[in-house]
Amino acid sequence: MTQSARDAIAARAPGLVPRIAVVLGSGWGGLTALMQDPVRIAYADLQGFPKPGVAGHGGDLWLGRIGAHTVAVLSGRQHGYETGAVDGMHVPLQVLQALGCQVLVQTNAAGSLRRSLPPGSLMALGDHINLPQRSPLVGLGGAERFVDMVNAYDPALRAQAVVLAAEQGVSLATGVYAWAFGPQFETPAEIRMLAQLGADAVGMSTVPETILARYLALRVLALSLITNMGAGLSGERLSHAHTLSQAAAAGVQASAVLAHVIGNLKLD
Ligand code: HPA
Repeated sequence: MTQSARDAIAARAPGLVPRIAVVLGSGWGGLTALMQDPVRIAYADLQGFPKPGVAGHGGDLWLGRIGAHTVAVLSGRQHGYETGAVDGMHVPLQVLQALGCQVLVQTNAAGSLRRSLPPGSLMALGDHINLPQRSPLVGLGGAERFVDMVNAYDPALRAQAVVLAAEQGVSLATGVYAWAFGPQFETPAEIRMLAQLGADAVGMSTVPETILARYLALRVLALSLITNMGAGLSGERLSHAHTLSQAAAAGVQASAVLAHVIGNLKLD
């Protein structure tokens, strides 16, 4: 008989009850080095977890503590552009919720649509635009699938994050994140359109997991590390290597801010 992901986790980290689930995007991997008593489990050992895909994105679940909290950190997510499916993180989030998580902290790398949000900045998501209009809930039954997406990004968690980031000397802007399906970067015309639609940043992740989290009644905090200006807004040529190198440059500070935020969040 194959062991369920929950049993596999209980066997490797007995008695551990995480309250905060974290999804690490490009640039944010340094967080795992700031955990206390970390236990690492490869996604490959967890039934229903995604197969690691894009270079630069890991595929491990880390369990341990950050400051006041026991946390479960998903290092690596499945993106829609890898297979076309957008529900790749359903099982991992369901498992972490069943283990005790009440909050999902998401991170990503994103392009900026706003001059006042230059590369290296951090932005808390205040809302999102689901541009592909794809949902990880398609095919599910029940009334719960009709998820209310007002305040999907928890205002109280965000307000705490702004204060905690400021304690670290970092100003955390709030903005709207547009999900672009990828994997190609946007055209300059798409970037102008997104800015006109009210988006402040653009990226290829996060939105499906936020929808899943709200379906699972998890409160969501999401942070973008701005790695570049959107296509056509600067002379820069966009590439995955550029995203990763920019993310690595700013990621050390971002991860330290993230650890401070997570470690000090008040949950009720
Ligand atoms: N567009 C989409 N996704 C991204 C970008 C971008 O400019 N930068 C980092 N991820």
